Amino acid sequence: MVESKPDGIILFVDETAGSDESGVGTEASPFKTAVAAILKASTANTGINVDEIKIKVKKESEWTDISKAGFKKAKGGFENAIKKLRKEEEKKHKEAEDKAGEEKRLEESKKIVIKMDYNLPQAKQIKIRDSTSNRGQRVVVCGWVHRHRVQGKDLMFIWLRDGTGFLQCVLTGQMCHTYNAVTLQLESTVSLYGTLKEVPAGKTAPGGHELQVDYWELIGAAPGGDEAITNKISAEASPDLLYDQRHLVIRGDTASAVLRLRHATLRGFRAFFDKKGLYEVTPPLMVQTQVEGGSTLFHFQYYGEEAYLTQSSQLYLETCLPALGDVYCITESFRAEKSHTRRHLAEYTHIEAELAFITFNDLLDFLEDMVCSVVDFVLASKEAPYFKELHKDFVPPKRPFRRMDYSDGIKWLNDNGIKKEDGSDYVFGDDIPEAPERKMTDAIGEPIMFCRFPVEIKSFYMKRDPKDTKLTESVDVLIPNVGEIVGGSMRISDLAELLAAYKREGIDPSPYYWFTDQRKYGTCEHGGFGLGLERFLAWMLNRYTVRDCCLYPRFPGRAQP
Ligand code: 4AD
Repeated sequence: MVESKPDGIILFVDETAGSDESGVGTEASPFKTAVAAILKASTANTGINVDEIKIKVKKESEWTDISKAGFKKAKGGFENAIKKLRKEEEKKHKEAEDKAGEEKRLEESKKIVIKMDYNLPQAKQIKIRDSTSNRGQRVVVCGWVHRHRVQGKDLMFIWLRDGTGFLQCVLTGQMCHTYNAVTLQLESTVSLYGTLKEVPAGKTAPGGHELQVDYWELIGAAPGGDEAITNKISAEASPDLLYDQRHLVIRGDTASAVLRLRHATLRGFRAFFDKKGLYEVTPPLMVQTQVEGGSTLFHFQYYGEEAYLTQSSQLYLETCLPALGDVYCITESFRAEKSHTRRHLAEYTHIEAELAFITFNDLLDFLEDMVCSVVDFVLASKEAPYFKELHKDFVPPKRPFRRMDYSDGIKWLNDNGIKKEDGSDYVFGDDIPEAPERKMTDAIGEPIMFCRFPVEIKSFYMKRDPKDTKLTESVDVLIPNVGEIVGGSMRISDLAELLAAYKREGIDPSPYYWFTDQRKYGTCEHGGFGLGLERFLAWMLNRYTVRDCCLYPRFPGRAQP
């Protein structure tokens, strides 16, 4: 406790041994700083004037009067500290006032009730996409609050989202003051009644119109505070957290644009296949045969028997050729590889087709035509505006695609100094890993049809090149920034050759009896391919990873939501 004396007070300061927290200003218990000494003395209700305070500081074990400059400095520090204290008090006071005001406003808002005016024309419920054709009409629109803003006392804007578009809605007067209005949070669902009007000249809004609201209702409130959507999926959140919250992330502009364009792309593939006369089939996903090697199979128990999730529907598509002619399927494939790369998923949408009585060149032409036609379809679709937002610099690939044999690829790698991990050159027969393949594709900078891989590094069903039986009639379509988007080939058409292939790969032919029968009951030259939809989208929509090109990605360590 600082005590006053008739002739002012003396306070002791020891910069080494004193303490501003526990010191009281005596020789036995000095302060650490002169600022704290003055502050304590003048705020301790002693009625003491700052200039009456005398300070003694410890120097070399002696108590001496503080220097004039030292006292002036301490006084300056004291004045600043007082100012700060005052500001803090004012702030606290204002906060308390605001809180009381807010509580009062909330209480008042509960008394405000808005009523529908039944003298107005009856409102027709519409989707936002139909706003233009309903201009001038009284309508009701339901949706989610995408954004909102209060302007002045009596004006509030809501940007409503209903999946078909966005609508600017204007609320005025009492409608902005109800409890639901003053507590409205993003992502709440509302129904808004009003008249659709063209926005005044010089103003902009989605679609060029706005809803002048005359009545509204809250359907489902969304939480604020820590639970608010903006706190759940902030821009700084880690990718893992965003995948946990993917059910909320997909409501956002970018993720929903990708999903819309995914829809347009699927339609593009179906339109192309339809134009080419292919039938769509839906093969089973629970299977007992492998297509692309045992290491990437997901195993499970099927009524006590060993079964797998399909790696590819190719073998089933081949069985459809004699029944339906050319066929395709768009369905999920599963790969159990523990790949944490930006182009691998454990479950992906596989677009596969099988074509009868074709040559290898026909297959390559088909692939080129398909990729270009689907791109054209998406760019001309009603989803195209979203495309421009995601990938404004996209240049559609030029035909014809570069066709490059595997052996020329090996030569390209060597000519360009791209070596194996152990520093040696790539040689014929090597399986070129992703990284060097990407380097080559990125350097060439255009789609490549990479053809004719050696038999040993390709799947058992691939047909040998009649001109060089060390090779297969196979193709990978490689795209800059993404890598392989398509794997395809001509298939073995000869029964004896197929049986030899099973043997070479150590595959038990018995569960494949139905596939083998295709070569027995009227064989044909045929070929086909599989395209990973998410890789195609990652390329077209300029996404960093395939994980952002599907609804709920599956990869090692993630199987939810
Ligand atoms: O090259 P793949 O393994 O070929 C097959 O499955 C053939 N049976 C298809 C056929 O001829 N019908 O896979 C084909 C394509 C790849 O080019 C790639 O785009 C995609 O499927 N793909 C994957 N996409 C995402 N994650 C994975 N783990 C993928 N594995 C393959």
